[in-house]
Amino acid sequence: MKKVAIIIGSTRPSRRSLTVAKWIKSVLSSSKEITFDTIDLKKINLPFLDESALPALGKYSQEHTKKWSALIKSYDGLILLFPQYNSGYPAPLKNALDYLGKEWSNKPISMVTYGAHGGLQAQIAMKLVLTGFHAKQLAVNPQISINPMDSDEDVTTKLNAYNFEIELLEREFEHVLAN
Ligand SMILES: Cc1cc2nc3c(=O)[nH]c(=O)nc-3n(C[C@H](O)[C@H](O)[C@H](O)COP(=O)(O)O)c2cc1C
Repeated sequence: MKKVAIIIGSTRPSRRSLTVAKWIKSVLSSSKEITFDTIDLKKINLPFLDESALPALGKYSQEHTKKWSALIKSYDGLILLFPQYNSGYPAPLKNALDYLGKEWSNKPISMVTYGAHGGLQAQIAMKLVLTGFHAKQLAVNPQISINPMDSDEDVTTKLNAYNFEIELLEREFEHVLAN
């Protein structure tokens, strides 16, 4: 069985990311080839990058970095789940990415974004980062339009309209991780 983690990339109180992550996980639960976990950056609670050596060297001095590195290495693929913030991605997610180097290389990674307009600019910005890491970027990167003013009920209805995209993502992970 392969393992893919959904990294929850927003950390503020009242964040929607938990609802979106729960929905993604429920849609992905049908896979017989892959188990999907969630990694909540709020729980991982990394400080602002506090390593002296360049992360690309992999010489980590802090316990939290060693743990973060081991956690990411333990997954065959990743889904970065994040909202659009001011035409970019959330800072805690970038901080978590900056901590490591080779761990992201060749890792199959998909982006699932959400926001009032789905998160196109956030994906464009993150694509540059993932390209720099030489990650294996997947073709399916759903952009989910949910309005910050939507009620929880509205959000559930809207999310269900994207089920097929998440199922498509599941198929792509099964294809990419098959061997
Ligand atoms: C700081 C901040 C900046 C935002 N900037 C954008 C934006 O540029 N485009 C957009 O469509 N939505 C934007 N939004 C709306 C968010 O995408 C929406 O509130 C989303 O639910 C935030 O994710 P979160 O609840 O997990 O933090 C912004 C929200 C916040 C809090």
